[in-house]
Amino acid sequence: MFSTKAPPPPKSAHCLVSDVGISVLNSQHLRLASYAMEFNQLVEELTTREINQKDWKHVDALFSRIMLFVSAHFRDEEDMMQENGFPEYKYHKKLHDKFVDEMADVQSKINNRKIAFSDKLSTLLWDFLYGHINDEDSKYGEFYREKGISA
Ligand SMILES: [Fe+2]
Ligand SMILES: [Fe+2]
Repeated sequence: MFSTKAPPPPKSAHCLVSDVGISVLNSQHLRLASYAMEFNQLVEELTTREINQKDWKHVDALFSRIMLFVSAHFRDEEDMMQENGFPEYKYHKKLHDKFVDEMADVQSKINNRKIAFSDKLSTLLWDFLYGHINDEDSKYGEFYREKGISA
């Protein structure tokens, strides 16, 4: 799906993602990166100890917030692609849908308290974002730039 291997999630707000040339989408990417860091830190912490009720509530709340924000971001990107005739819209939407499915799967495991707090889970969001923004979102960035579209 994506070829670039993500480095470990950053510990600060310093961001390693491409500028896609559209300010509202750049800001959303920064917010997603900060969610990815928050999620990474929480899961890493939970790999080290027994998980209590308060931890579960924290995981539930953070994961729901992330799901909502990811969906809203994908919708904004897709709307803009359709409005501007981005030729790879269908392919790009498929990548979004596949990730939303993966997230929904994780959410149902969280809901059933059947999730493993592993290193893989801790970097799930960051690994996707890093590859997706840099390899895929940058393509619409290039397309808009060539067409002189900015926002
Ligand atoms: Fe994006
Ligand atoms: Fe995207």
